[in-house]
Amino acid sequence: MIFTKDDFGPDFHWGVSTAAYQIEGAHNQDGKGPSIWDQFVKKKGKVQDGSTGDHACNHYHQYEEDVQLIRSLNIPNYRFSIAWSRIFPEGTGPINPDGVDYYNRLIDACLAVGITPWITLYHWDLPLALEKKGGWVNREILNWFEHYVSTCVRLFGDRVKHWMVLNEPMVFTGAGYFLGYHAPGKKGINKFLPAMHHATLCQSLGGRIIRDFDPEATIGTTFSCSHIDPASEDSKDIKAAQRFDALLNRLFIEPAMGMGYPIQELPIAKRVEDYLKADDEKNMAFDFDFVGLQNYTREVVKYNWYMPYLQGQIVKAEERNVDLTTMGWEVYPQGIYKMLKRFQAYENVRSIIVTENGVAFEDQCEDGQVKDIKRVRFLQSYIREVLRAKKNGVKVDGYFVWSLMDNFEWAEGYEPRFGLIYNDFQLQKRIVKESGYWYSRFLKSSKVML
Ligand code: NOJ
Repeated sequence: MIFTKDDFGPDFHWGVSTAAYQIEGAHNQDGKGPSIWDQFVKKKGKVQDGSTGDHACNHYHQYEEDVQLIRSLNIPNYRFSIAWSRIFPEGTGPINPDGVDYYNRLIDACLAVGITPWITLYHWDLPLALEKKGGWVNREILNWFEHYVSTCVRLFGDRVKHWMVLNEPMVFTGAGYFLGYHAPGKKGINKFLPAMHHATLCQSLGGRIIRDFDPEATIGTTFSCSHIDPASEDSKDIKAAQRFDALLNRLFIEPAMGMGYPIQELPIAKRVEDYLKADDEKNMAFDFDFVGLQNYTREVVKYNWYMPYLQGQIVKAEERNVDLTTMGWEVYPQGIYKMLKRFQAYENVRSIIVTENGVAFEDQCEDGQVKDIKRVRFLQSYIREVLRAKKNGVKVDGYFVWSLMDNFEWAEGYEPRFGLIYNDFQLQKRIVKESGYWYSRFLKSSKVML
């Protein structure tokens, strides 16, 4: 079957995504305070290629050119995040007017050329000053976050009508406060559980703040998710896969839906009771206008008695003889269909937007051209699965490619290139890849096939 963008309908939101720390650079300019990532990347061995986001894509200075590029590619929606420590260098306290000015200019630049800005309020770059007070582990974060979010909606809400509260809370709490391989590099269950619980509370709190300020705003929050298969039909593998599924796919969305934590399949989560206060269970829920679904791959899980809390482990994709990306992730388009179906099955989901999907491959720039045919195929295959879900009753209303351009991929540094646009980091020169041109034609013409 041949499909075009028309099959998604005229109201479908097509876009492209980025995040502040991964693209802005200007890490210490114009009054910005340090974030946990500014500190973390300086520690030896934390980032694979030893790089930092100090300069990243220099988007802070090149945002006008980048917004023009988005426009020239016919992409109508741009999702980006606000760096909390540009607004509040110390996390709380005095506002930094230059930081506010930057986001005003960025928002206005988008609007001037007809691009709708979609803002993520928290994409992992907590002000370092707040981490020094315990960061997400400290329940005070609810007050800090409330102050930050209400300031942002007050400052930008006259023009910004699409908001996402958190980006992938499972990843920033899991990698940042349990495994320690993301900032702030904390480890252990006693860090993770309170961080998780406070993130859950902030997720809904943020939603309520935005709704109070602007009842017309479209409010979402985003979740990482991957379809999970057991390594075999053995009941032990099946059980282990269920525990991983509860951890990776359910832990944050279910409390938001008013269902509480999935403690039955993930017994360790019961220990969150140590951090529960009166009304928390009620306050964890919020009726988001949309759920942001972020999907890249699938996981296969096998039983392993020795693994603490989970008694299971992920079988690496490279051991499974499947198509791999630079991240070592399996290419598995059916997974996005399966996850869309699952999210739709929650009673309180009103609408789903794929706020991230994309891929890193080893792109080569030759004679000023990047022929990333594999990425074109990847995007086509995933977008087809999104359409299949839509045709099968899932209320999926948007799709955003990760990412606009190659950028700083956290602990993996600059090697994985996820962009529709190639970035020459030395010259800070943007080169639209074949996939960028394909996406552009697809969005422009009703004749370009999927
Ligand atoms: C999820 C994160 O939101 C984003 O920051 C990251 O770069 C992509 N996935 C790719 O790993």
